[in-house]
Amino acid sequence: MHVILVDDEQSVRDSARQWLELSDFTVDDYEDAREALKTITTDYAGIVLSDVKMPGLDGLAFQKEIAAIDPHIPVVLFTGHGDIAMAVEAIQGGAYDFVEKPFDPERIVETIKRALEKRRLVLENRQLKKALEENEGLDSRLVGTSQPMRELKRELTHISPTIANVLILGETGTGKEVIARSIHEMSGRRKGPYLALNCAAIPVNMAESELFGHKNGAFTGAQGSRVGKLEAAKGGTLFLDELSSMPMDVQGKLLRALECREITPLGDNTPRPVEFRLISAMNDEPQKAIEDGRLREDLYFRLNTMEITVPPLRERKDDIPLLFSFFLERAADTYGRPAESLPSESLALMMSHDWPGNVRELKSLSERFVLSGLPAEQRIPKLLSGKVIDCGESSVSLRDQVSLFERHLIQKSIDRHDGNIKCVMDDLQIPRRTLNEKMAKYGLSRS
Ligand SMILES: Nc1ncnc2c1ncn2[C@@H]1O[C@H](COP(=O)(O)OP(=O)(O)OP(=O)(O)O)[C@@H](O)[C@H]1O
Ligand SMILES: [Mg+2]
Repeated sequence: MHVILVDDEQSVRDSARQWLELSDFTVDDYEDAREALKTITTDYAGIVLSDVKMPGLDGLAFQKEIAAIDPHIPVVLFTGHGDIAMAVEAIQGGAYDFVEKPFDPERIVETIKRALEKRRLVLENRQLKKALEENEGLDSRLVGTSQPMRELKRELTHISPTIANVLILGETGTGKEVIARSIHEMSGRRKGPYLALNCAAIPVNMAESELFGHKNGAFTGAQGSRVGKLEAAKGGTLFLDELSSMPMDVQGKLLRALECREITPLGDNTPRPVEFRLISAMNDEPQKAIEDGRLREDLYFRLNTMEITVPPLRERKDDIPLLFSFFLERAADTYGRPAESLPSESLALMMSHDWPGNVRELKSLSERFVLSGLPAEQRIPKLLSGKVIDCGESSVSLRDQVSLFERHLIQKSIDRHDGNIKCVMDDLQIPRRTLNEKMAKYGLSRS
């Protein structure tokens, strides 16, 4: 966090700055309080350290001006010998604390740490309030009202506004990606980028370049330069999925980048600063992954500042009806099919199923339910009979999905234009001949 330092004497500024920087604070100093004031806003993430006696705006007046912008920005005043009465007045007027000149470096650092902590809490609480207001957004993204889901959502609302790294654990298909995205959306970084990288989906030898970027010609086949995900996520959130699939040496580099907050792209030698919040996820047990040599323990401890475990669907079966109807409606809309209601025997069957593929399996089942040609009451028994449902994102071939979607779009356009073929042609930008062929193929008519 940040410190604004104001004193009309250069020597005081220099020595205070030196102590503060040694203690890892970032400092901006000003000779004139009016200049400093221009940089202060309600979401200023820091505190102010100011002299009392200054030409122009003095410390007390300065403090009042700051309080008018945001009464919760801590102002610490420097007081010379004999200003104690003034200092007391300042504190009564809302200043956070005062330190006497010549100051004791340790005391000043202590005071500032406390003031910064207070400021951090104020900002975090404000974020939290905002996030609570946006909690309805969470409900529409992350469907589920069972007890475990309510607890999970409460936890998400709390941690989202913070800057803490989050590690999301849970079986396959439980919703880890949905959760990562929700955390970003509920954080102060929602306007920044959200970048996701699935470590299992990139070739091992490309992992480093994906994360850190590379310069032209850095390795065989490196054409052009590329900005790595760590750098591109500046001001936003980086989601690293399937973390334990990341090569161990790259995990080491990632750890260093997190510690130094800078990276060096491949083939480059100038380090660049990085600034992002890291969310990671994996569907195996961290302890097991560490033992198997797939996850670095030191990296694990760096990433799990907050650890969230998403319960498997079989432990929150109360969510099944709601999730099913949510996916059913979406699938019906996508494929232009009616969303027929679920026969009660079918629901009972679903409640007794174990869902090894979790929510993804349920989603797949609802899509098949919509697309199935069987009578409604036979669909679920047939689909759930025997084996586990294929959990590919969709169980219908791409060609069939595209056809269904195409049929749906044409049907919609015909409806919208009351069967006026000329308008449909313009709308979909296809020639009459193609439109006729497709309408014949899909059995569509003008009425
Ligand atoms: N609570 C939920 N509400 C709405 N959709 C959900 C929910 N949970 C999961 N989904 C949906 O289920 C599918 C699987 O979820 P997701 O991809 O987030 O799982 P995952 O935990 O990342 O799985 P994996 O470990 O296999 O990557 C996605 O289509 C997602 O949108
Ligand atoms: Mg995933």
